[in-house]
Amino acid sequence: MERRPRIDGHTLLAGVIGWPVAHSRSPLMHNFWLEQRGINGAYVPLPVVPGAFDVAVRGLQAAGFRGVNVTIPHKESAYRIVDRLDRSAQRSGSVNTLVFAPDGRIEGYSTDGDGFVANVEAHGIPVRGGRALLLGAGGAARAIAASLLDRDVDVVVANRTRARADALAAQLAGITVIDWAGADELLPSCRFVVNTTSIGMEGGADATLPLDLSRADTGLVVCDIVYVPRQTALLRQAAERGLRTVDGLGMLIHQAGLGFEKWFGATPDIGPEVEALLDADL
Ligand code: ATR
Repeated sequence: MERRPRIDGHTLLAGVIGWPVAHSRSPLMHNFWLEQRGINGAYVPLPVVPGAFDVAVRGLQAAGFRGVNVTIPHKESAYRIVDRLDRSAQRSGSVNTLVFAPDGRIEGYSTDGDGFVANVEAHGIPVRGGRALLLGAGGAARAIAASLLDRDVDVVVANRTRARADALAAQLAGITVIDWAGADELLPSCRFVVNTTSIGMEGGADATLPLDLSRADTGLVVCDIVYVPRQTALLRQAAERGLRTVDGLGMLIHQAGLGFEKWFGATPDIGPEVEALLDADL
């Protein structure tokens, strides 16, 4: 590994804005990649209280930052502050990555959906065509749905609160909505099932997904965006049935990698090393 030069007047800066932000794993990943690539850069956690987002972003831009990731509770403010919304941000209705362009404009991207797809493909599973059943209709579901639709996947959404799934379908043409309880029936015709809800998350909802995996086609790929724990009950059941599984940690890494490329102009190595680093920190 090349040695990273010390912080000086040439250091490229980026970070993550959130409140709280101390729990974020993004600094770990980006600083690892900076060091690995021998780039003179630093990625820092930026705790910004609600209400101070705009002033913080303008300040970071004025101070020469390359850009920032944005997390809870500032995602809506991020969507509003940008001068140019990338297609990924428009389609997903959210922004998690800001790039301060050399012309002074702020560009907004959403890397979640493409990060999800890149992670599945990194498992050697091509994402094109077929049907995907998405459980949940929140921000993550929308981003993933947008990227799947772009790859000609037939996207079906089931959400506990049906009205929220209907609202999602109204925002993204091509989505079919079914009842939460009807998810199970659709399973035999699906190539992918993706849990985007907080079910299965450590300390999360004490609920189970309306799925009986014994009905699944043997080619079904079962994905979870939850990564704490990595092995959710859904993934465990799928693995026991011999189905292919994709856990949420890889999505976290891939979506981060897309931001890294934009700020630092280099492709990060999304291999076992960074995965092990995060795993040790979970
Ligand atoms: P994110 O931005 O990460 O997608 P979100 O917008 O809060 O998070 O969405 C959370 C999703 O998890 C929603 O689809 C939510 O369903 P509702 O719209 O019915 O609230 C789903 N969810 C959370 N807890 C759940 C539970 N106990 N049972 C079923 N769905 C649940």
